[in-house]
Amino acid sequence: MRLPKAGTIEIVPSILSADFARLADEIAVVESAGVSMVHLDVMDGHFVPNITFGPPVIAKLRKCSSLVFDAHLMIAEPGKYAERFAEAGADHITFHIEVADEPQRLIDKLHQLGCSAGICLNPETPVEAIEGVGPLCDMVLVMTVRPGFGGQEFMTQAAKKISRIRDIVGPDIRIEVDGGIDSQTTPIVVSYGADTLVAGNAIFAKTDRIAAINAIREVAR
Ligand code: DX5
Ligand code: ZN
Repeated sequence: MRLPKAGTIEIVPSILSADFARLADEIAVVESAGVSMVHLDVMDGHFVPNITFGPPVIAKLRKCSSLVFDAHLMIAEPGKYAERFAEAGADHITFHIEVADEPQRLIDKLHQLGCSAGICLNPETPVEAIEGVGPLCDMVLVMTVRPGFGGQEFMTQAAKKISRIRDIVGPDIRIEVDGGIDSQTTPIVVSYGADTLVAGNAIFAKTDRIAAINAIREVAR
C-alpha cells in the first residue's frame, strides 16, 4: 500500500494506546471507520525509555489488515533494521533525524526497499536539522510530545515548527504530527499546515473508537 498522495487530511490511529492482546481486532475497528493508515510505534529502550514491538508483530498484523502501515521507528539504529521492517510489511518507514548519520542514504535505501520514507524531529530539534533532506522524503513527522509514551500533553511550541517545515517542503510532501492530538489540538496543527494526524489516546482510550475518529474528523476540515 502507498502513502496517500498529499492534499487530503488523514487521521492515523496509533495502536500504542490500543489493547495489545487484541491488536488485529483494534486495527479492524479503525479500518471500519474509514481511515487509510495505521501508525505503529516501534521503541527500543535506547532511543526512548520504553519498549514496544518489532518486525515479527508487524508481520503478523500485515496478514490481518490492508491499511497503510506507517512505522515510526524510535530506535537508535534505524539503518540497521530498515530492511527487516520493510520485509515485515511496513509501507512507510519514519526514522529520527537525531540518530541518522547519513539521512539522505537512508531515504534512498527506504525507497529502494519499496517503502516511502519519513523523517522525524523531536520537540527540541530545530527545523534546520531537516532543511536539506526534508524535500527528499515523502513525509516529515513533527513530534509534539517527547517520544516514548502515549497520553502526554501537547506541546504548542513544537507545533509551531510546522509552518516553517511547510515552507521548506512545499505542498506535495505530507507533514504528520504525533503527540497529544485530539479534537482540541487538531485545528491548531491543521492551521499550521499539517495534513496527517496521529492520534493514540484520543482514539484508543475511548470506548467508541469510531466516534472518537469522527470527532477529530469533524474539526480537521
Ligand atoms: C509517542 C508515540 C505516539 C503516541 C501518541 O512516542 O510516537 O505515536 O502513540 O500518543 P497520543 O496520541 O496519546 O499522544
Ligand atoms: Zn508515533
